[in-house]
Formats: sequence, C-alpha cells, structure tokens
Amino acid sequence: MVEEGLLSLLCLGLTALALGLLLLHHFLPFLLKLGFAPRGSFGFPLVGETLQFLSPHASNSLGFFLEDHISRYGKVFKSHLFFTPTIVSCDMELNQFILQNEEKLFQCSYPKPIHGILGKSSMIVVVGETHKKLRSLALTLVNTTRSSAGYLIDIEKIAIQLIDSWKKRDRILFCEEARKARERISLTVKSIVEERRKKNTMDSSINKRKDFLDVLLSTSNLSDEEKVSFVLDSLLGGYETTSLLISMAVYFLGQSPSSLKQLKVINEALRCGNIVKFVHRKALRDVIFKDYIIPSGWQVLPVISAVHLDSSFHRASLLFNPWRWEDQNQLMSKSFTPFGGGPRLCPGSELARVEAAIFLHHFVLKYRWRIEGDDIPMAHPYVDFPKGLPIVIDPNLNET
Ligand code: HEM
Repeated sequence: MVEEGLLSLLCLGLTALALGLLLLHHFLPFLLKLGFAPRGSFGFPLVGETLQFLSPHASNSLGFFLEDHISRYGKVFKSHLFFTPTIVSCDMELNQFILQNEEKLFQCSYPKPIHGILGKSSMIVVVGETHKKLRSLALTLVNTTRSSAGYLIDIEKIAIQLIDSWKKRDRILFCEEARKARERISLTVKSIVEERRKKNTMDSSINKRKDFLDVLLSTSNLSDEEKVSFVLDSLLGGYETTSLLISMAVYFLGQSPSSLKQLKVINEALRCGNIVKFVHRKALRDVIFKDYIIPSGWQVLPVISAVHLDSSFHRASLLFNPWRWEDQNQLMSKSFTPFGGGPRLCPGSELARVEAAIFLHHFVLKYRWRIEGDDIPMAHPYVDFPKGLPIVIDPNLNET
C-alpha cells in the first residue's frame, strides 16, 4: 500500500518535473532577456486559441481571428495553437526568412495527426536526408512528366471529354465534376502502374523510354513503403489542389466575366483563393528576427494568405483583378507564394498551372457561365466550396 502510494507520488513528481523543464525550455530565452516575445495571448490552457484560429472564413479574406490579432498585436504575434506555444507570422519578410532557413533555423513540422493521415514516409512529414532523397526524385519525376508529350495530350483529352459531357446540361456542380476528372486521372495512373510492373517483369529491355513510373520503380535507394508513399503524395498533393485551383478560377471568373481573356487569371485565383493558408514549421534554436525572439522548440506558422491579402503589396487586395499582374513589380512577386518557398517549394507548381491552363482554355472556348446562388470558397483552413460550386452554363456562341 505504502509502496504504491510512493510510486504514484514519484510518477506525479516526475511528470511535474518534465512539465517544468519543458516550460523552462520554452520560456528560458525570455527569462534570460535575450529579446522580447512578440505580443499576443496564449488563450485557454492547452488548447490555447486553436479553435478561434481554425474558425472557418471566406478563403479570400483574413478571417476574424487574424484581422483581430493583427490589429491588436501587429503582423507577428504569439499564441498557443495545436497544444504548442506558437509564433504566427503574417509578415512577408519573416515568412521568407523562415522558409529560406529550412533545416538551418527552422524545420518543417506538421502536427502528429497529419503524420497518421499521410503516412510517416510522406514528403511533407519527413525531414533531413530522407526529405532530400525524396525531393530530388520528385523533381526528376516532375521534369520527365512535364516534358512528356503524352502527359499533355492525356490531360487535354480528359479535359475535352469532361467539358463535352456537359453539352446537354444547363447547370452543373463544378466541384463534383472536377473530382470526377481527378478520379479518372488517378484510375489511369493506377492502371499504368500495374501494366508497367507486368511489362517490366516480362521484359525490362522492351521499355526503353523512361518516364515517371520507370524512374520511380527502378529507384533502388527507396523502400517499397517510400515508393507507395511517393505515389500517394503525388495523387493527394496533386489532384485535390489542382481541381481546387480550377474551381477557384471558374468561381472568380464567374463573378467577373470580362477578365476572361486575361492570362494572369491563374495567378490571381491562386492569390485570392489561398488554397494553402499557412505552413507548419518549428524553431530549431532561439532565433532573433528584428526586435523579436522566437524561442527554440516553438511552433512557427508563416501565414501565406495574410501576405497575399496585404494591401501594402497588392492594391485593393480583396478584389479579384487579374489585370494587376500586367504591371507586376518586385514586391508583388516577392509577396506571392502560393506554393511556399525555399527548399520545400511545391514541386508540383508547374504541373498544377499547366493542368489548370489547359482546362480553362477549353472551358472558356465552349461555354459562358455564372455562379448560381451564393457559394463561396471557405478556409477550414483546408479550402472547399460548401455547396460544391453550382454554375449555370451556356454554350459559347462565338465558338466556330
Ligand atoms: C494549386 C495547386 C497546389 C498548391 C497551391 C500547392 C501548394 C503547396 C505548398 C504551399 C507546399 C509547401 C508546404 C510546406 O512548405 O510545408 C507544397 C508542397 C508540396 N506539394 Fe504542392 N501545391 C499544389 C499542387 C501540387 C501538385 C500538382 C503536386 C504533385 C504533383 C504537389 C505536391 C507537393 C509535394 C510532394 C509537396 C512537399 C514538398 C516538400 O516538402 O519538399 N503539389 N505544395
């Protein structure tokens, strides 16, 4: 009895000590007066301000939490999010500094539940050498895919078939249709993988032309788990985001049809649509930036959308205006980071742009459209259209 009591007391003591050390570690730089913490509030114990931070809002707006906190504390503030003390950055220079210093001062660090969903070998989750290995493969694969004529022809074929299938309809749920296209592409990829595996085992010399899957399947420094994870990364990273980008362009164009001829529509849909609102990092050591100190071990969230919607860089920033990209200045380009930056810059950015451009080209040729009702893209923070983006379509009579 006495022993059990002592044991529980010991456990309690150790837990308190561990918590104490953790707190000391997190707050030591302030105690030592190495610098000032950005202003802000930790909110409730443990959950902090997570629920307010995640509260849904239109994806072409900052949302109440960021608006309120920026006006109270400035563009960089402290908070407590996802059970961790956090620095939230809505500042272009700090965001750039964080992304450029990946693996030196900061490191990609997504919350544990995301590891569970994507798998521990997913590129977004792995760090260090494993990340370098997977990333270099991704870049090789993207380049082989991009320069393959077959790929562009396939994408164009799928886009035309889908668009033609709407001929006898006057309204469609756009997101559902975009998802159908995605499913078709992923089914095609799956059948190609299987066919290729069979072919490769029958006679590896028949298949001389190297493409995406040849390179992946013949890579010897990746485990099978890493290869499967890689294909999943490409499917998840690629199709959900790209179909969202297309939906975004259709949505904003539906409100402002006169901008149809603008090639810069895709840039502007990326800026206003904010498909990725923020990315997750942690500080690897105490970092001093301007007047602030970011303590080692703290979570750091560079908020991409806040810079996209910052009117110091993009005039009348809440308006969808593709023409703004005609006289693009250096500040506009520096503050436009829909695909992140630094050593983690999205490897699929060009594929996404090409796919969206091919689709839009054919859609604009065949139809005129308008949004039915009042659906808007919402950031949860993952983005979706709550009503699936219903649109009314009419054949484009100018088409020959
Ligand atoms: C509109 C479309 C897309 C957007 C907005 C987007 C956005 C992003 C962003 C912001 C990151 C950086 C994440 C971070 O720094 O933590 C990222 C990384 C990544 N994206 Fe994309 N992406 C898109 C399309 C694609 C496509 C088409 C693919 C695949 C073919 C892809 C695959 C990836 C992968 C594998 C990473 C991880 C890179 C790394 O950690 O080194 N994405 N994406």
